[in-house]
Amino acid sequence: MTAERVLVAGATSAIAAAVARRYAEAGADLVLAARDAGKLSAVADDLRVRGTGRVETFVIDMVDTARQAELLAAAQAALGRIDVVLVAWGTLPDQAAIEHDVAATLACWEANATSVVAFLAQAADVLEAQRGGCLAVITSVAGVRGRRANYTYGAAKAGVIAFAQGLRARLFAAGVAVVELRPGPVDTPMTARLRKGPLFIGPERAGALIVGAIRRRRDIAYIPGYWRWIMLAVALVPEGVMKRLNLSAG
Ligand SMILES: NC(=O)c1ccc[n+]([C@@H]2O[C@H](COP(=O)([O-])OP(=O)(O)OC[C@H]3O[C@@H](n4cnc5c(N)ncnc54)[C@H](OP(=O)(O)O)[C@@H]3O)[C@@H](O)[C@H]2O)c1
Repeated sequence: MTAERVLVAGATSAIAAAVARRYAEAGADLVLAARDAGKLSAVADDLRVRGTGRVETFVIDMVDTARQAELLAAAQAALGRIDVVLVAWGTLPDQAAIEHDVAATLACWEANATSVVAFLAQAADVLEAQRGGCLAVITSVAGVRGRRANYTYGAAKAGVIAFAQGLRARLFAAGVAVVELRPGPVDTPMTARLRKGPLFIGPERAGALIVGAIRRRRDIAYIPGYWRWIMLAVALVPEGVMKRLNLSAG
């Protein structure tokens, strides 16, 4: 069996690095992209020790959408065919700190929606042209219903969720899977400032579940799966009740 060829965009994320470790240990060839060259080379060095495949790096601020095509071209040059593209970058601003700040609100959308949609659109063209592969994107349970605690971030994720749904229907005919991953809260630098409750999981567990969902070409995967039932219950809460609650997890 040939080694899988995987592009990870946002590879210094704790969750993405855990995913990349799993692929490296399975002998995959990897292209890792992130904006911090120092952190990126530390992640790459760790993977080179663990795996037998190639590990290449590409430094890019993913909100610089004009450079995203360069990343895809570099990944194609390094890997040939791309089996999996994982979109993992994101930011979780403090809702209270940004909600009266339009620039910060739009920056959150740029980091979590605009740049992600731009990259998904271009990666979709690459995978569609090669007639196969898997486009995997990490969204969040926060995108399933708007909540007081994180609605700017959640709304950006909701936009990506709808975009991924349409993209999935378009790419189906070309044999390309779109796997949308919806983690609940994960203990990573992103959530460092949040109080940790019993629903938090570690990045290694999230990474293992994500690799499993990608391997099974799941359309939508809650990480862990019990979040499907939690969010189903949350979706049933009437808006008149919801506005009086302050649900915080996710
Ligand atoms: N942790 C959670 O509870 C949770 C729950 C649901 C979904 N998610 C999603 O999971 C994904 C990974 O997050 P994480 O939990 O692993 O958090 P993390 O460790 O803080 O990783 C976030 C990553 O995004 C990168 N990033 C942010 N803006 C970027 C940009 N403009 N260009 C390139 N990279 C950028 C950061 O790079 P730097 O290191 O350079 O800052 C960092 O590597 C995100 O999409 C997040 O929204 C997380």
